Amino acid sequence: MSKHIGVQMLEFPQKGDDRGHLVIVEGMADIPFEIKRIFYIYGSASDVIRGQHANRKSEFLLVNVAGSSKVCVKDGKGNEAIFALNRPHTGIYIPAMIWKDMYDFSEDSVLLCLASEHYDPDEYIRDYDEFVKVILNEKE
Ligand code: TYD
Repeated sequence: MSKHIGVQMLEFPQKGDDRGHLVIVEGMADIPFEIKRIFYIYGSASDVIRGQHANRKSEFLLVNVAGSSKVCVKDGKGNEAIFALNRPHTGIYIPAMIWKDMYDFSEDSVLLCLASEHYDPDEYIRDYDEFVKVILNEKE
């Protein structure tokens, strides 16, 4: 559905046994980047919208390791897609230069984010109009 904008739902290997579940995500194997940073988001109310930015460099993988949330992604050229995150062994890969909004957090939501870069506030674009301008300029 949204493959053309490079965002993809990925399914990860599970090693479940009678002791419980174990899910594996290896950089450059299960996801197309080396992991330089992880952060996780929890305790967000259901009416909160997070994200609301694009990243010039960072690629991400988002996994709801507990609970659920939704992610809306936009490419700045009029294409958008909404993904539901609700299984600990599936995640959404988001390449650089994609606008993302995370919302509809369940009370028990723990949203794990793996990133390809260290944190650098200067690579964040937090204004949607600016994002669209950058995308348009990239095409030239
Ligand atoms: P923010 O980008 O608003 O989070 P989200 O997009 O997930 O809603 O980040 C919240 C605060 O945390 C902001 O002050 C920046 C800071 N921050 C870091 O210092 N390092 C990080 O890796 C991230 C993701 C955020």
